[in-house]
Amino acid sequence: MTFEEFYREDYAKLKAARATLEAIAEEMKNGGVSGEDLQPIVYYCSRIKRPDSMKRKLALRGFPTTLESALTNVYDAVGIRIICSFASDVLSIVEKLENEPDIEIIEKKDYLLHPKPNGYRSIHLCVRLKEYGIPAEIQIRTIAMDFWATLEHQLKYKKNISDENLIKSELKRCADEIASVDLSMQTIREIIKTV
Ligand code: GTP
Ligand code: MG
Repeated sequence: MTFEEFYREDYAKLKAARATLEAIAEEMKNGGVSGEDLQPIVYYCSRIKRPDSMKRKLALRGFPTTLESALTNVYDAVGIRIICSFASDVLSIVEKLENEPDIEIIEKKDYLLHPKPNGYRSIHLCVRLKEYGIPAEIQIRTIAMDFWATLEHQLKYKKNISDENLIKSELKRCADEIASVDLSMQTIREIIKTV
């Protein structure tokens, strides 16, 4: 099924919502740098959820696999991921997003303060674009957190994992090591700032 077939009359609004989020991220990427500050956003990427993936998610949760359901029961028909340099940048970008007039924040999931049991770290904002009434999910994390999430996501889809518990605990160990590296990088940054 194509995007147009599934999202029908709302597809244009979804694309506009995605473009708005990209514009906000681009503005924060370029305009957010003041004086000696380092670039807070390294890059961002966005997507509209593929119809097959959306229908699978809705079905899994026991919701109807319709357009209306896709725009009311879940928040990630439109998604943008913002990758930051340092953990402090993640927090400042989240704060900026919370103050964006075009965005209504529905829910904030802070997996920095409360990492998932598997070690996943990120901050998620479930939002609504006021102008279009379209929900969206914004994920904000550091390069290091993104490195872990990307590889963990790939590994999840690998079949025939022989020693699942070992893999899980090794991934958790890597997540913790990565968090510790983020902290060290943050410390280096603070030292450089004050000299
Ligand atoms: P989903 O059904 O996966 O959307 O999860 P959810 O409704 O519980 O929402 P949550 O905000 O926790 O996760 C939404 C999205 O965050 C996922 O679709 C992934 O992109 C990402 N995510 C969440 N948890 C993990 C994780 O453990 N590993 C990785 N790699 N990504 C994750
Ligand atoms: Mg998702």
